[in-house]
Amino acid sequence: MSHHEVPPLLDRVAGIVSEAISRVRPEFFGTDSVVRRSEHADFQSNAALALAKRARTRPVDLAAELSTALNNAHDGPVGLVEVSGPGFLNIAVPDHAIWQHVSGRLADSRLGVGLVGERRVVIDYSAPNIAKDMHVGHLRTTVIGDCLARVLGFLGADVLRQNHLGDWGTQFGMLIQYLDEHPDAVWHHNELTSGTSTVSALDGLYKSARALFDADPEFAERSRARVVALQSGDPATLARWEEIVAESEKAFRDIYDRLGVLLTPEDSVGESFYNPILPDTVAELVAAGIAVESQGALVVFSQEVKGPEGTPALLMVRKADGGYGYDTTDLATIRYRLKDLGADRLLYVTDSRQALHFRLIFESARRAGWLTDDVSAEHVAYGTVLGPDGRPFKTRAGGTVRLMDLLDDAVQRARAVVADRETVLSETELAQIAEQAGIGAVKYADLSASRVKDYTFDLERMVSLTGNTSVYLQYAHTRIRSILRKAGDQTVEIDHTIPLEPAERALALELDAYSTVLAEVHDTLEPHRLCSYLYELARDFTTFYEACHVLSADEPVRSNRLGLCQLTARTLRHGLGLLGITAPEHM
Ligand code: ARG
Repeated sequence: MSHHEVPPLLDRVAGIVSEAISRVRPEFFGTDSVVRRSEHADFQSNAALALAKRARTRPVDLAAELSTALNNAHDGPVGLVEVSGPGFLNIAVPDHAIWQHVSGRLADSRLGVGLVGERRVVIDYSAPNIAKDMHVGHLRTTVIGDCLARVLGFLGADVLRQNHLGDWGTQFGMLIQYLDEHPDAVWHHNELTSGTSTVSALDGLYKSARALFDADPEFAERSRARVVALQSGDPATLARWEEIVAESEKAFRDIYDRLGVLLTPEDSVGESFYNPILPDTVAELVAAGIAVESQGALVVFSQEVKGPEGTPALLMVRKADGGYGYDTTDLATIRYRLKDLGADRLLYVTDSRQALHFRLIFESARRAGWLTDDVSAEHVAYGTVLGPDGRPFKTRAGGTVRLMDLLDDAVQRARAVVADRETVLSETELAQIAEQAGIGAVKYADLSASRVKDYTFDLERMVSLTGNTSVYLQYAHTRIRSILRKAGDQTVEIDHTIPLEPAERALALELDAYSTVLAEVHDTLEPHRLCSYLYELARDFTTFYEACHVLSADEPVRSNRLGLCQLTARTLRHGLGLLGITAPEHM
């Protein structure tokens, strides 16, 4: 299979309507013909409604002119065109054009998806904090960021994944000091602490150190001195720091491996990486008059955003004690990504509470001349994960929910659901499928929820075999695969002369929309659109399969229907893949 350009029917129809518009009204050459899928026809255009006023005519009359022009010249994907309501154009696609399209798609390894002209996209995602457990908030950034990396990468962008680990800052003085004073503290990943509870030992260390820091002012003092030692590069302190980072990264890696995300160790470019370039960045902002002195500190006052008291919101560039923090690092980071990495588009996937922070960072970068009009910087914000009580998701004891525990739970539940079906599976198969279904369910629940809204974490619902879940989609995929295996998994010839059943038409047109939905995900950065699409596709398939015999149909109908089955299976599998979810062969 190769990549023959098979543009979507929608695009071809839109092109033909645009052409008709400029034939009838040359002054509208190049305007959008606003063609969409519709419940009332294969496609519908409301161009006449949009243009009538400027054309000084009634929408209905303009629509009539356009339909005449289209009906006189129709060929290819535009069949009968009728005016409906106040001036909509209802467009029917001839059966042969749909079959022709299906056979084109079958030969296209990219499923009709073209490339978008973007070069370099930096996606900042995951970014957990060293020496702490990853929590459900990090699940969202990891899963959403990874999906965007896959979609944008498939659409042709050169994606640079950046895992902005929280691996620097004052907390390390405290941790290192504590370890030196408590040589017996258990914090390494070993037989006792391993298994699924990996980072916990380190998290425990963090909590003990924090408690001592809060309770004992002298320890706090020694910890602060340790921060200075770390920042000035004291070898013993640095070695300890490296050890802690490596240990933490091991635990994060366990989670990444289990989630099956793209992040590699090379993608880890944590806060510490920017430490050497902070002074330069600050000097540049000061020289440009952007960072100014205020009460002993160095700050950037926003020209766009006001704080609660009506005073300008600000970024802390250098604290009064000379220290640099999160704001400074992000200023150096954006400068590096724009000037050194040469990014065309910057995405930051973090929770919506950081909206102000990024707004201020982008504003400063624009004022500094780093961020220019031809580059877009976007905060890809997401909502909070809520528990069943509608409050931020916590354990029964009120602690943060550890990701590994949550994944274990999901896999266990998925196993029960999968084992409950009549298919006979070996223990190895069952374990593997339960893992794929459970992990997929957690990822899908996150991705299918509207990104900016909060969403409720509900394990029961997410592993269900029915409804908009990944388990449902995985199952739909296995059903189609089983049909195809029974038919011998062969390439089929599509006969273009056969009349289409309504359910076949609906399925074929839904398959056509794959590239349209990916373009939407590209523009809106909302993975839930892809989820809804796959769910609709699986439902259209079910309707088709209930209405149309496949294996028992006579040729050439059988081959045409097998072609639709093949395309559906491939699209489901590919779409799930872009969500980072595996589509098993059996379930
Ligand atoms: N480590 C931060 C957190 O856990 C997220 C960092 C996001 N990226 C950035 N460039 N600020 O909230």
